Amino acid sequence: MSKFKVLIVGGGAREHALTLLISRSEIEPSISAISSNVNPGILRLCEGTNGKYFKGKPTDPNDVLKAAEEVSPDLVVIGPEEPLFSGVSDTLKDKGFIVFGPTARASLIEKDKGFARNLMWKYKIPGRLRYKTFVDPEDAAEYAKAVGDSVVKPARQAGGRGVRVFGETAEHLSKIAREAAASYVKRLADVIKKKYKDIENTIVVEERVEGVEYTLMTVTDGYDVLPLPIVEDHPHLYPWDLGPETGGMGSISGPSYILPFLTEDEFKESSKIVEMTVKALFDEIKERYVGAISGQMMLTSFWGPTLIEYYARFGDPEIGNLVFMINSDFLELLDAAARKKISSYKLNINENVYVVSKAVAPEGYPLEREKAKGHPIAVDENTIKKLGCEVLYGGVDLVNGELLTTGSRAIEVVCPSKKGFEEASLLAEKAIASIKTLDGYRLIHRWDIGSPEHLRFRLRKARLARLAYMRRRSKGLFIIYDWIPGKGLVVFDYSS
Ligand SMILES: Nc1ncnc2c1ncn2[C@@H]1O[C@H](COP(=O)(O)OP(=O)(O)O)[C@@H](O)[C@H]1O
Ligand SMILES: [Mg+2]
Repeated sequence: MSKFKVLIVGGGAREHALTLLISRSEIEPSISAISSNVNPGILRLCEGTNGKYFKGKPTDPNDVLKAAEEVSPDLVVIGPEEPLFSGVSDTLKDKGFIVFGPTARASLIEKDKGFARNLMWKYKIPGRLRYKTFVDPEDAAEYAKAVGDSVVKPARQAGGRGVRVFGETAEHLSKIAREAAASYVKRLADVIKKKYKDIENTIVVEERVEGVEYTLMTVTDGYDVLPLPIVEDHPHLYPWDLGPETGGMGSISGPSYILPFLTEDEFKESSKIVEMTVKALFDEIKERYVGAISGQMMLTSFWGPTLIEYYARFGDPEIGNLVFMINSDFLELLDAAARKKISSYKLNINENVYVVSKAVAPEGYPLEREKAKGHPIAVDENTIKKLGCEVLYGGVDLVNGELLTTGSRAIEVVCPSKKGFEEASLLAEKAIASIKTLDGYRLIHRWDIGSPEHLRFRLRKARLARLAYMRRRSKGLFIIYDWIPGKGLVVFDYSS
């Protein structure tokens, strides 16, 4: 019998994690991949399973189609969001390939933050924030100036760039925050309009909330939604959640499905939000969503589990944690989703492991990526493996035998522990000591991820949010009065 063949689209740490999970399958697949960089981790797994590695643009449907036609895969797995947005899934499906990854239309749930928010209001999905989308930046600026305590976002998913929080409730400072938000809106709109021409809305201004963030990744065939263990990402560049937002400097998960700062009920409610969204998407676009859909959530004092944004994919670094958590056959799961029959799939996870992942980035990331680019980097994988950790290659490119940084998060280490997050975090520190640039260029990472101090900080914040939202619920307080420029006093009724 000929081997089952898989084609992976994308070449970052997420795709490396996916390839690793897939490579462990009892189906013993032959794995091929297409990516614009050469990811040494994925390359090795492709070579080890007699697959091919194509250099090509994952966002270009023709490049991916060519690779698919050469390999004839039984399953194509699309990793990143941009290939979804540009219709790679549509093109492949049209040609009869079985694809794990939503169509361009369905991936609007991530691409267009206005679309996602609107869907939540239209279908009364819990955890929805008040928002307004704008085509004209002038209107957005005026609105941001009037509402003050707000968050300004590019309406289009911009790879984790562009979101700014303008919260200031002290009256004497709020004027400054408002002015700042308004002028930021205009600058952001200029950048976004130049870069992306594929959606109409430019800016979203939404209410600011506070709380603890976490990611709920799920797999769906458009009918059933299978939640994976919760993972907490750490988007800020520096310890204690300081500095600019990044794609994620590391994440923690375990033990079991929930993290210590969440309750079983909050996990269930978060899953319900994603489930309702998948159903609403079907009602809205008459299409079954196939692939990963993840909720980037926050436990807030108003709603409890609240949706910040959706991913039409697995999170990075979040999926890396699951390398140590998923026991059942992951390829079978992806394949079952793509063939619309996950209801019979039984997910089996490691219930007793704490996992910490940490990303290593060249200095300059994320604000000065040019500086962070082109540095030779070396990883002593044997030492890292001996610690019991995994290495995931991300923003690196193998060029003529030399591994060079591409300016983004270069490498992730993922470490498990049976004892707790602290041990896993310290293991990750040891593992990171085995990653070095060959030109002496500085690498940065966050020591605090998985530390007891950081976890305590989270627990306290979550407890406060929980106290508030539970009280609100017990009193049935789901009506908010607000003043909106141009509209006057508005009543928001969240009760369904
Ligand atoms: N409504 C909000 N209130 C408070 N903080 C927010 C809000 N929306 C986003 N943020 C913060 O900004 C970060 C980035 O926003 P997000 O919508 O996830 O955009 P992206 O990840 O595409 O940049 C979030 O992880 C969160 O920390
Ligand atoms: Mg985000």
